[in-house]
Parts: sequence; structure tokens; C-alpha cells
Amino acid sequence: MSLDKCAVIYYSKSGRTKQVAEAIKARTNADMYLVEPEEAYGGYLASIIKVGKEKLTRRPAKLKTQIADFMGYDVIFIGFPVWYGTLPPFFQEYIKQCDLKGKRIIPFATSGGTGKSGSLNTLKELLPESEIDINNYYFATGSSKPDVNAWLDNIN
Ligand SMILES: Cc1cc2nc3c(=O)[nH]c(=O)nc-3n(C[C@H](O)[C@H](O)[C@H](O)COP(=O)(O)O)c2cc1C
Repeated sequence: MSLDKCAVIYYSKSGRTKQVAEAIKARTNADMYLVEPEEAYGGYLASIIKVGKEKLTRRPAKLKTQIADFMGYDVIFIGFPVWYGTLPPFFQEYIKQCDLKGKRIIPFATSGGTGKSGSLNTLKELLPESEIDINNYYFATGSSKPDVNAWLDNIN
């Protein structure tokens, strides 16, 4: 598959997911779209509490990043840390508002231990009209760090 014209939409609080995003950029020259909340999250515990509240009240943090136009891309990588078993709430808001109809979506995520099924279900709900590339979902859980270049080389 040609990854000549692809975009990476991602968020990373503490840098682990960012490393994967940057490795994709280094290999494919993708355009990068970093999605950020209006107010940066603090440390781990403060973030757990804040996001817990967001989930209880169903009010995700406001977005700092504007919705971009992804018309010119066929392949979009979407990357995030797993929060409460799935995508961070504000990041879900961003994805939901983008027009990604008919696009091939290649997810990548990092987590402390949780597996990929929760985020996969969320992605399917958020993007019912996109082609989510389940087989090529890059997932680094715990301290594992699958090779990004080997993963990209195997995408076809
Ligand atoms: C608010 C919050 C919620 C989290 N929830 C989970 C979770 O449900 N399952 C899990 O395995 N890890 C969870 N983590 C850990 C992160 O997924 C993990 O540290 C990730 O690799 C961080 O990526 P980053 O460095 O790109 O931010 C959570 C971390 C935070 C800050």
C-alpha cells in the first residue's frame, strides 16, 4: 500500500503514543495533527480524577484544536493512549466531528495493560462510515514496544 499521502491524528499525554506517531512520520512523511484539550491534563492521579468526572458528567474536556479538513488523504492513522479502557473523551469528540467517510483508518494506541477491544468498539461507533483496519491495529500494552517500522512495512 502506498502511504505517500497519509495523515496522523493523535494525542499523547506523557509521550509514549507520541513516540509511535513520530516514528510513523519518520517513515511515511505523514502530515501530523496533534489534538489537544483546551486545558492540559496534569499528572497521572489528577488526570484520573478529572477524566473520571468527565465520564460521570458526560462532559468531555473542551478542545483546543480545530477540526481539520482530511479530504486530501486516503489513509489516516489515529493514535491515542487508552484511558478508562478506550479513547480519551475529548479525543473522541474530535474524531466524531471530522469527516472521515470512506477513509482507511489505521489505529495505534498505547496502554498500561488494557487490551484493544474497548477502543476498537469505540472507533467503530465513532466512525461507522470509515474502513477501520482492524488487522493492522498497532497496540503497545504495558512495557511492550512492537517495532513501528516492521508494522508499517507489513501494512498492505
Ligand atoms: C486518565 C488516564 C486513564 C488511563 N486509563 C487506562 C486504562 O483504562 N487502561 C490502561 O491499560 N491504561 C490506562 N492508562 C495508562 C495509559 O494508557 C498509558 O500510560 C499510556 O501508554 C500513556 O500514553 P501517553 O504517554 O501517550 O500519554 C490511563 C492513563 C491516564 C492518564
